[in-house]
Amino acid sequence: MSIPALAGVCTYVEAAQPGYTVEENVRRLVRCAWIQKRAMETGLYWLNPTPEWEVKEALSLHLYQDAEHARLIRARVSEMRNPPPRMDVSPDLALDRFFDELLAARDTLEKIAGLYGVLRPALLDAYRAHYGGSNPLVDFPTRRIVRFMIVETEDAVQWGEQALAALTETDADRQRAEAWMAHLRAYLDAAGGIAGDVQPPDQLPAPRAAGDFVPDFFPQRDDRFTGRWNFVFPPHEVARTEGVSVEEKTLALMCKRTLEMDVPEAMARMIAEAEGMPWEYYVDMARQLWDEARHAMMGSVYFEALGVDWKHEIPLHPGFALRLNQHMDALDAHAVLYTIEQSLMPAKTGKRYEWETAVDAHDPLAALFQDYDWADEVLHAQVGRRWLLDAHKLSRDAVVKLGQQRATESEADLAQYAAHGEQINWWPDFVRRVLGQESAMHDYALGTADPVYRAAE
Ligand SMILES: [Fe+2]
Ligand SMILES: [Fe+2]
Repeated sequence: MSIPALAGVCTYVEAAQPGYTVEENVRRLVRCAWIQKRAMETGLYWLNPTPEWEVKEALSLHLYQDAEHARLIRARVSEMRNPPPRMDVSPDLALDRFFDELLAARDTLEKIAGLYGVLRPALLDAYRAHYGGSNPLVDFPTRRIVRFMIVETEDAVQWGEQALAALTETDADRQRAEAWMAHLRAYLDAAGGIAGDVQPPDQLPAPRAAGDFVPDFFPQRDDRFTGRWNFVFPPHEVARTEGVSVEEKTLALMCKRTLEMDVPEAMARMIAEAEGMPWEYYVDMARQLWDEARHAMMGSVYFEALGVDWKHEIPLHPGFALRLNQHMDALDAHAVLYTIEQSLMPAKTGKRYEWETAVDAHDPLAALFQDYDWADEVLHAQVGRRWLLDAHKLSRDAVVKLGQQRATESEADLAQYAAHGEQINWWPDFVRRVLGQESAMHDYALGTADPVYRAAE
């Protein structure tokens, strides 16, 4: 037995097999960078109008991974070619025709069938082929990132298989999914597949996409969210009011985390409408979007552990995304988000205070969630500084002033949606049921305003 040669990367025999030339390698990678970018955009476009929260969770994760994969591929291409080929323009218009069709999905079933039943499995096959087709020694850097992308894409495909199975329990649904997948596969084949090396079909089915795609950023919730039109949300006040027990404050904090469901929805629109930013912008903002989705998940995990039917018992309204997506432009929306994040910094009222509250309540799960929620704000503050202040050459004070102004003005915009549901104070009953005690805020005058951003100075 001898010590493995070539650092154990492969054998002498394997390294002596030729693989892709640099030109072929770059050609394939450039297509993949574009496909990952368009997959990210698809997630951004679908986050708001797709009503099922579980789908929003997965779209949030996978669009972030799309942005990351594109970053890795772009960096690798730039290592191999100077100047690098342009990666902000389409390498093949037939690929864009495929994405036009993908975006023409009519409901959740067709979205999942297209993105997870057609595109991601094809991408996974292409990455596996790339891993197998590249020389393991000379192209080690590409294979290293491709190996990582295979792992993440496998997970996404697996999620999609389970989601599609759940959405196609009847024969009619199964047939509809199959027909849509066949339609999209034809369009992907017409582009030569992911790598552009598949023989295009002789004939294409008639396109469904008509005209330019018009994104819809109205945040939808499915029927399980029975209180989705109740904009009364006492936890904002409860968590910061003196004289309230730490147990009640902690319960309020976990409700606030769960309500963060609409922060990714608001961010999806900001990112989708940001044209021509450096790729790092999309990576950073998509990461924050995924973090905000996870903050909402923290709340949901907490209430699942308590056996609370959180979708039904907590009025999880999409008021923040409604205001930002429907009633102001994307830059103002980013200013509102930034202003809220600035309000989370002061030690007495911000994230430190929230963490200490959960620690004082001797609630290890809530304390852990607040600990990491606080940690995520470190990154989010940097993202805001870099992509709002620096990128637009704005001062912190000017942005906070704008954010407070737009947040206050847009409170009134919620009134037009209030008639969709009852506006009621659900908090005292909720506290009694979950904590078995009376709320300290029983007589407090509660409005529909979110006071959080007012804490930014
Ligand atoms: Fe958050
Ligand atoms: Fe945040």
